[in-house]
Amino acid sequence: MNYQRLDSHFIHLDTVDSTNNYAANLIKTTNVANGTTILTKRQDFGKGQRGNSWYSEPEKNLILSTILFPDLDVSHSFYLTIAVSLSVSRTLADFMIPNAIKWPNDIFVNDQKIAGILIENQVQGKKIKSAVVGLGLNVNQLTFPTGIRAISMSLVKGKEIDQYQLFLHYFSTLDFYIDLLMQSNFNLLLNLYYRQLYRMGTWQNYADNEGVFSGKIVGVDAHGRLKVERESGIGVYDLKELKFLFNRN
Ligand code: BTN
Repeated sequence: MNYQRLDSHFIHLDTVDSTNNYAANLIKTTNVANGTTILTKRQDFGKGQRGNSWYSEPEKNLILSTILFPDLDVSHSFYLTIAVSLSVSRTLADFMIPNAIKWPNDIFVNDQKIAGILIENQVQGKKIKSAVVGLGLNVNQLTFPTGIRAISMSLVKGKEIDQYQLFLHYFSTLDFYIDLLMQSNFNLLLNLYYRQLYRMGTWQNYADNEGVFSGKIVGVDAHGRLKVERESGIGVYDLKELKFLFNRN
């Protein structure tokens, strides 16, 4: 294996369309090091999961993308999602913010989202050739549009957070979990993920294309699909197929 630990090569931008797009372009046009991270103060066309957009108040939050060259089989790609989610979750825990990973890779504090992750893989044959790991972490933003289930670190802690210290902590945590991944510690990563998984093992309300039902998350399958126990048996869900319902929507 020729994997090398993350290189602390940081690119700071004032403004950009999307740090994920900027990173993808760097991979195409230059020789970038594993770990190269693009940070911006402001992002005009931030991309979210499922083709959504990601809005973040300028200067207030961490908006960044890290370029990885993980020597990883496509069949193991969900473990990259796990490693990144654990990095964000651990970072928040180290800042004394209890949190959980809402499947597949949202980070929640109670029932509110504090961070979103967008991983875009470039695949060649059976291998992930490169990955762009985008993170939007709500740090010092104090207000969010109504109807959005969101929170920031500052709202939890009641004080402003030093964004660069936070970033450095995340980066070294990411390095740690990606190293676990590169050493093929798949079972350990999965167990850690289950320990942090939002609603794991508790009966809650969900909706699928057939309607609302009560279910219990029991794990994920090898493709990263969510397994939910319900009266009729175990249901297996892809990203767009299941909606989490909240008591207070
Ligand atoms: C989500 O929908 O929850 C994922 C949000 C990911 C947002 C981050 S912000 C930095 C990076 N650049 C992007 O365009 N998106 C990701």
